[in-house]
Amino acid sequence: MFKKILGQDIAGYVKTHNRLIVLAIILTALSSLLVIVPVYLLQPFVDEGMKIASDPVEWRIPWVTFQSPLSFKKTELVLVSDISPNRLLIILTAIAFISVILKSVTSYFGELTAVAFSNRSIREFRVDLAQKFISLPLAFYHRRKTGELIARATADLTVMQGNIGNVIIGLIRQPLTAIVFLIYLFFMNWRLTLITIVVTPIIVALVRTFGRKIKKHSARVQDATAEVTSSYYEILLLLKIIKGFCMGSYESERFRMLADNLYKKIMHWNRWRLGTGPMMDSTLFLTLPLILMVGKIYFNHTLGEIVAMLYAYAAAYKPIKELAKINNNLKTLQGATKRLFDIMRTVPNIQDNPEAKHISKFKDIIEFSHVGFGYKPEKMILTDISFKVNAGETVAFVGPTGAGKSTLLDLLPRFYDVNKGSITIDGIDIRNATMESVRDQIAIVGQESLLFHDTIVNNINYNKGNYSREDIEKAASVAQAHSFIMNLPDGYETIVGDRGTLLSGGQRQRIAIARAILKDTAIMILDEPASALDPESELLIQEALENLFNKKTILIISHRLNAISKSHNIYVIDKGKIVESGTHNELIRANGKYKNLYDIQFRA
Ligand SMILES: Nc1ncnc2c1ncn2[C@@H]1O[C@H](COP(=O)(O)OP(=O)(O)OP(=O)(O)O)[C@@H](O)[C@H]1O
Ligand SMILES: [Mg+2]
Repeated sequence: MFKKILGQDIAGYVKTHNRLIVLAIILTALSSLLVIVPVYLLQPFVDEGMKIASDPVEWRIPWVTFQSPLSFKKTELVLVSDISPNRLLIILTAIAFISVILKSVTSYFGELTAVAFSNRSIREFRVDLAQKFISLPLAFYHRRKTGELIARATADLTVMQGNIGNVIIGLIRQPLTAIVFLIYLFFMNWRLTLITIVVTPIIVALVRTFGRKIKKHSARVQDATAEVTSSYYEILLLLKIIKGFCMGSYESERFRMLADNLYKKIMHWNRWRLGTGPMMDSTLFLTLPLILMVGKIYFNHTLGEIVAMLYAYAAAYKPIKELAKINNNLKTLQGATKRLFDIMRTVPNIQDNPEAKHISKFKDIIEFSHVGFGYKPEKMILTDISFKVNAGETVAFVGPTGAGKSTLLDLLPRFYDVNKGSITIDGIDIRNATMESVRDQIAIVGQESLLFHDTIVNNINYNKGNYSREDIEKAASVAQAHSFIMNLPDGYETIVGDRGTLLSGGQRQRIAIARAILKDTAIMILDEPASALDPESELLIQEALENLFNKKTILIISHRLNAISKSHNIYVIDKGKIVESGTHNELIRANGKYKNLYDIQFRA
């Protein structure tokens, strides 16, 4: 049932809370049924209870008796008889009192339960979404704006949060209320009630049309919201550039256009959303004169009966109108969450294959064999790259910017999968190994040193191991970070700021190196580990890395040739190909590209 009403995606999350939903439905149904009580109390209250004489009175309600399941007769049921009017009043008042309390309590707990189950569904969805964000491969994010993803995870989820409970509760409460009053109306005059129902198909058709429009426009509102959020995010991220280039007013103007667009989309959506009520009012109220006219001329109803029926009619109509609103909420919900579920349905194209093996600790050889790779299939970045790295060796990659060095080393931890050829660790193709067992072997210092908004100690100690403070400080010392950390007012407890902005570039880099050293893996990937350092610190880092030589297998990218001159092997990469290889001395003797680079660097 949920699948049909909410759509499969949302239903999947709501369904897991069946027990709560059933409770919410029962409570809501109870509170909805109680709306009829006042109608039944009003008549005896006025007609019997208000009698001045103390003659005994009765309290009867309309009833039916069935002769057989299909033939029934309208009768009356005497609930109380032989009672003085004042006593009847006391009984009626007591019943009214109890029913009001019951209605309030059931309605309160019904809604509370609804809020609970919808928010539990949302809680699970939030967690799943975060997991999805983590599990999707890096390539997924190249095509998307971070700000937009944040908007999806916040604005779209807020719409979801606000509407699930309302929709489900409303779908129980409103039809029940309408049915209760309609049954009453049928009791009073079924033929007349039938006449008023002929407008139903028109209303249903209109409500559906409005619903479709609302769904479409709600999706557009969420898209425009995402653009606005995304723009906020970019402004904050690039604030320094915006200010430095005096582009403040340009950016504000650009933002204004997005805000204008959002406003327009919101108005479009509201034109349909707010139109539903008046549209239904006019269709439904056109039938009211019909009741008056036909009721008087054809059925000879008394004034009192017609007034009572108009009251019941209005009372039955209100929930029908509410149902149309709920339909709007539902369509808003479906429109808003479509993109979210598109993300949820994205299957990571880099995944463990079902027979993936666990690679045990690396001990022998890494082999790249005829590797070809492109971020887009039509534009290959790397072609036919083959090389081997024995355990304990250090190999270096040099070459012009944009040659594909970082891309090449991103293939080893499977941030991307090769398009051609293969990469093996100890003879196992990494595509046949579990991703976790591959990544557990590798510590990475990237070209940008990415830090969390947290303390230095937590940034260094970011791994699954259980390291003591001593281990952490030792890693920091090897990375030449210990002394500068000790000079900070809060030492290792210093908060590094968003992405590490409170530290200098070189400081961030050394913390990233300490983090990689602490992870204590067999393989290390270093992408320009000393690029942000002064010559002196660079030398220190170089010494630190030399300490790791022969202990770890190191793949290093560096533009500084003296940093890598001791490597076992150096590969010169140009335009995605290995153009030269050998040790430092061999390459100098070969007098090729490497020698050329070397001469430029050490011309002085
Ligand atoms: N996510 C991406 N999508 C598409 N193309 C990319 C992507 N990342 C990098 N490239 C392209 O791949 C090529 C190689 O980039 P890469 O970062 O590997 O170069 P590099 O050798 O590390 O350069 P540098 O020395 O400047 O760090 C470049 O031409 C770059 O434009
Ligand atoms: Mg690079």
